[in-house]
Amino acid sequence: MEACHGRVALVTGSSRGLGRVIARKLSEAGAHLVLNYRKTGGRSEAQAQALAKELVERGSPAVAIQADISQKDAVAAMFQEIGARYGRLDILVLNAARAPFKRVGELLKRDLLELVETNFLGNVYCMQQALPLMQGRPGHVVFISSLGSRFALPNYPLGSMKAAMESLVKHWAVELKDRQITVNGVTAGLLKTDSLIVLRQYWPGVERLPASAFVELEDVASVVLFLCTDAARSIRGQQIVVDNGLSNELLRSAPAS
Ligand SMILES: NC(=O)c1ccc[n+]([C@@H]2O[C@H](COP(=O)([O-])OP(=O)(O)OC[C@H]3O[C@@H](n4cnc5c(N)ncnc54)[C@H](OP(=O)(O)O)[C@@H]3O)[C@@H](O)[C@H]2O)c1
Repeated sequence: MEACHGRVALVTGSSRGLGRVIARKLSEAGAHLVLNYRKTGGRSEAQAQALAKELVERGSPAVAIQADISQKDAVAAMFQEIGARYGRLDILVLNAARAPFKRVGELLKRDLLELVETNFLGNVYCMQQALPLMQGRPGHVVFISSLGSRFALPNYPLGSMKAAMESLVKHWAVELKDRQITVNGVTAGLLKTDSLIVLRQYWPGVERLPASAFVELEDVASVVLFLCTDAARSIRGQQIVVDNGLSNELLRSAPAS
């Protein structure tokens, strides 16, 4: 039997990047996928719709729903659609993220609002809407974090929101213990996604890092899948670091005094 057979799974921000790979992985494990993208009419929608079509053609139910998670009403509408279509949700992967690459001191008010509204409030809105649909059965929530939650990465204020969310993961894990809903996080290392193209402008030399500094998207997705299975039911409120060992070796290149 597939590990997620017949389970309904929403992956936020799954039009591209890591979310797309996680969605495919859950689908291969038998889940019915709800893909989510931010904007109507652009590349993101086309990519999400193409993935939904591909999964359906392979025999796995899937649907793509537009919703900007920073908008409370849009999130409510997305979950209403999930409720109407499936009547429940078993797996929620909080993957969507969007933030400026800037020094903290240079953040404008609009940057701060984007940071908080998408990467903190957006995830909280999703969680609040998901819980009624997860009522009465085992469920799994996985938050996608980054090493920026624990290290001051250059021009990466998103790390502060990741740290705040990692804290919420622990709170939710405790609050939902009696409801058989596990809440955990996966802290990913450097990934080769579209955001690396942008990151190059703000982190000179990032593209010259050795291949071993990066982690495969598939490897992160495999850990997310594991956390969404019954085998992981006793893991609660934890962050699992999947970074190919990068954070463990950070000081090796520091010059000895
Ligand atoms: N890239 C890395 O090196 C790295 C490292 C560690 C952790 N992570 C984390 O991994 C996750 C995925 O990163 P990624 O590199 O794959 O990102 P990405 O390539 O930039 O893709 C982000 C996805 O999130 C969606 N999204 C952004 N804002 C949204 C919103 N308000 N509502 C709904 N969807 C929204 C995007 O949709 P659109 O296409 O519509 O914009 C896109 O599908 C993020 O949580 C990120 O922080 C990334």
